[in-house]
Amino acid sequence: MTSAPLASIYRRSLEHPEDFWAEAAEDIDWISPWDTVLDRDAAPAARWFVGGRLNTCYNALDRHADGDRAEQPALIYDSAVTGTTETFTYGELRDQVAALAGVLNRCGVEHGDRVVIYMPMIPQAVIAMLACARLGAVHSVVFGGFAPRELAIRIDDCLPKVVVSASCGIEVERVIEYKPLLDRAIEIADHKPDHSIVFQREMVTADLQPGRDLDWEEEMATATPHDCVPVAATDPLYILYTSGTTGEPKGIIRDNGGHAVALKWTMQNIYDVKPGEVYWAASDVGWVVGHSYIVYGPLLHGCTTVLYEGKPVGTPDAGAFWRVIADHGVVSMFTAPTAFRAIRQRDPDGDLVGKYDLSKFRSLFLAGERSDPDTLGWAEEQLGVPVIDHWWQTETGWAIAANCLGIEPLPVVPGSAGHPAPGWDLAVLGPDGTELPSGEIGALCVRLPMPPSSFPTLWNAEDRFVETYLATFPGFYETADAGFIDEDGNVHVMARTDDIINVAGHRLSTGALEEVLIGHSDVAECAVVGVADPIKGELPVGFLVLKVGAARQNDEIVSDVVMSVRQQIGPVASFKSAVVVERLPKTRSGKILRGTIARVANDEEWNMPATVDDPAIFDEIATALATIGYPRDDAGLS
Ligand code: COA
Ligand code: AMP
Repeated sequence: MTSAPLASIYRRSLEHPEDFWAEAAEDIDWISPWDTVLDRDAAPAARWFVGGRLNTCYNALDRHADGDRAEQPALIYDSAVTGTTETFTYGELRDQVAALAGVLNRCGVEHGDRVVIYMPMIPQAVIAMLACARLGAVHSVVFGGFAPRELAIRIDDCLPKVVVSASCGIEVERVIEYKPLLDRAIEIADHKPDHSIVFQREMVTADLQPGRDLDWEEEMATATPHDCVPVAATDPLYILYTSGTTGEPKGIIRDNGGHAVALKWTMQNIYDVKPGEVYWAASDVGWVVGHSYIVYGPLLHGCTTVLYEGKPVGTPDAGAFWRVIADHGVVSMFTAPTAFRAIRQRDPDGDLVGKYDLSKFRSLFLAGERSDPDTLGWAEEQLGVPVIDHWWQTETGWAIAANCLGIEPLPVVPGSAGHPAPGWDLAVLGPDGTELPSGEIGALCVRLPMPPSSFPTLWNAEDRFVETYLATFPGFYETADAGFIDEDGNVHVMARTDDIINVAGHRLSTGALEEVLIGHSDVAECAVVGVADPIKGELPVGFLVLKVGAARQNDEIVSDVVMSVRQQIGPVASFKSAVVVERLPKTRSGKILRGTIARVANDEEWNMPATVDDPAIFDEIATALATIGYPRDDAGLS
């Protein structure tokens, strides 16, 4: 059971959600108030603050810049890969954003139009997001590690008028030219955006196509600043594509009103951060963590946010995170456990931690994948602050379960993501939809309605929204995570119930990878499973059954498919291993037994499925895996 005062706040949030969130909404500046706090009857899902009007950019920037934070840093850009830092005050950031909003508007972008942002971790990415919000346009940020084909799929789904990009990104020491990738994506896509706006970085000058491509600096030099456009609370602020079970990504929609209210609330209540303090999410603006906690959450709250271009290790060493915390006086940080596993591997005794002044640092939050107790314990020991695992998804936009440090810090329970956060009525359901008692593993589901900021539907895919998330357990949102709630109310998230795997905190669809593999002319059948990795948590491994009389040699086919995944999905998939097998184990109905294959690869206990006629098939799988070094003896995560 949850104890007071968290218990009473939690109870109130479920029993009187309208009162609870209307009160939280007072921290947001509204142009006109809502008619209905929560429209429970809206289809396909309930809507928050219906009838209300506001502007998210105004709340994130103008109200601070016009108030007493004009001179306070809003954004610190710290680039470990270029060795530079740049600080933007709230006044400066607002002016840049207003100017870019003017540029976008001159390109024809208006309220409701879509803009795709394909950028590295530079301030211009944040400026572009906020400029869209200022115009009431809908941004869709595509992570830079995705290949042109993935970018093209997103362009064809959301039909942007403009794409904003940069000449290059920097991966440790490797310069990655973005413009050729963007050009290729536009070439593949059926939809052709009217313009690209390209920020030229000094390492690479991209070729611009006259008429279509515009130079960021030139356009900004002649821009007329644009004011904030009032939008409905229920208008979309952004679309963020995330992996589904097929190669077709799902466009998660975030609305303006509920998002602003919930994120502002979380900064104080979950993260225990105060306006004016420095907050850092070491993620990428291409992921939901970047949207919520590099950009919107900290700025809505009047914090200083850090935009870090670099890695936890290698830029230049495993002390990079401690350097950023010390240099900028970070009070709370958010990253994925994989980053800490990488740091620990390079600096197991934490020798580099002691070199930095971390006296202002109060808490570390981890999400994106389960925090293995071993890594969590190591981080706690090194940093001497609470290390909080919390659980959320692109769909929800903020934590479903957390340790709410700003309400009532609870003892950290390693292996658990904390208690359900206020607003989230979490239940563990069995296959027939009955609620399971504490301690029993089942489907983690949220009783409807969901709190503000959770997605109201999928872009252009309402049927898919209902079918994927609402149909299995009527009255509930199905998270597609399995887990249990223990007797003390702690949520333990154990595994996905679909074929999504988690690679370095990134969500990947094995179905999408299989679609690429099967595209090889010599491949008859294939499977991709997630296999444990000591740093990235999981890595995808492919199994290929070849057509009779395959044209190419086995090793050539393996290289081909590895290259195809890199070219078609992108380097972010970290797909480097595949192996040829004679056949794949299946159920009698023909379903490939991916779970059992993964157990064999991980050297975990497994039972021979009753539906398998010839048990020798798993010996064949094990023999094939041994040729590529599985099972690994260093993969275990406790
Ligand atoms: N543009 C182009 N390529 C990119 C890219 C980008 N924005 N981001 C990553 N890539 C590439 C990498 O260079 C790498 O390519 P490679 O196979 O040629 O080496 C590949 O995509 C995989 O990247 P990544 O998963 O980041 O692996 P890594 O080995 O470079 O680094 C970690 C491993 C653990 C250090 C890194 O994943 C990390 O810092 N993760 C934690 C933080 C995080 O981002 N979490 C997200 C959710 S909070
Ligand atoms: P994404 O939508 O990319 O943020 O990925 C969401 C998925 O990551 C969730 O559905 C979980 O499978 C996993 N995840 C995120 N946070 C946690 C956590 N704290 N513990 C376990 N799994 C997590």
